[in-house]
Amino acid sequence: MSKSYLSIERLTQKFPEGNGGTLTVFENASFGIEKGEFVCILGHSGCGKSTIMNILAGLAEPTSGVVKMDGYAVSGPSLDRGVVFQNYSLLPWLSTLKNVTFGVKARYPDWSKAKVEEHAREYLAMVGLEGDVVHRKPSQLSGGMRQRVSIARAFANHPKLLLLDEPFGALDALTRGTIQDELLKIWGGTEQTVFMITHDIDEAILLADRILLMTNGPFARVAESVEITIPRPRNRTEIIEHANYYPIRNHLVQFLGHRSKELAGQQSDAADLTPDTVRIDLTAPAPEDPKANDEDEPVLRAVNE
Ligand SMILES: Nc1ncnc2c1ncn2[C@@H]1O[C@H](COP(=O)(O)OP(=O)(O)OP(=O)(O)O)[C@@H](O)[C@H]1O
Ligand SMILES: [Mg+2]
Repeated sequence: MSKSYLSIERLTQKFPEGNGGTLTVFENASFGIEKGEFVCILGHSGCGKSTIMNILAGLAEPTSGVVKMDGYAVSGPSLDRGVVFQNYSLLPWLSTLKNVTFGVKARYPDWSKAKVEEHAREYLAMVGLEGDVVHRKPSQLSGGMRQRVSIARAFANHPKLLLLDEPFGALDALTRGTIQDELLKIWGGTEQTVFMITHDIDEAILLADRILLMTNGPFARVAESVEITIPRPRNRTEIIEHANYYPIRNHLVQFLGHRSKELAGQQSDAADLTPDTVRIDLTAPAPEDPKANDEDEPVLRAVNE
């Protein structure tokens, strides 16, 4: 497990509660993410997704446990990890453009001012922000525009690890689709690793190699890792035709609707809680039946099509 590019080992987060008690958000959570993987995490509100992301970003210390990236323990923020926060977190005193150039300058200190600005404008244009709007302050933008600045800022820095906390939540369906496509293009052309929180099951199936499913808190855990057995490139209109689409979708809906609650609040003695791997593939050939060549005993074989 510790061999993964990003390795989350026995992570526990407790917070003091107002009544003097302690809230255990999650305990001994362990999972790994491979280099270049696109992983989404699904779970109900309050189960601890943003808390995990803040720890991965190096912005919060867990109560115990460790996160390793490329073999080194994560401590403090780094330009190698780009974050799109749930609440956008733009610098309010800087213009839209400067919110993006700020990080690009730090990432590429050798670049000229003109090159930094051109690069930032390119990424802002990619999320549909062009012209005078780039000189507006965050307070003068709509919620969806702020979210897009936040996306452009993270993408423009080419981080090795992109951490996205519901990055498309404030966007209308059309803009959302366009930016999802841009994200896939950027990710496809690099070795970037993506960890993304979303509440949208269809978005997760479209984008992810793997979906992690979290149970409800307290004592939430990453219970399952569901492989998305649908080949790329994927297209939002064609993906629903794939034989695995609805079986995978139904599994996710069933987990979020029922099992996330049934498994909730259970304290475990296990030192290391790793998710179960779930692989649903109706296109895989049926396993060899040892009796298939036995002429005396004809057998019926299931055809998974
Ligand atoms: N700094 C903090 N102090 C105390 N409790 C906290 C703190 N941060 C988070 N929590 C609690 O930890 C739990 C998990 O919060 P978190 O923000 O990680 O949830 P989430 O899964 O991201 O939810 P959502 O889907 O609504 O964004 C919640 O019960 C929250 O109240
Ligand atoms: Mg959250």
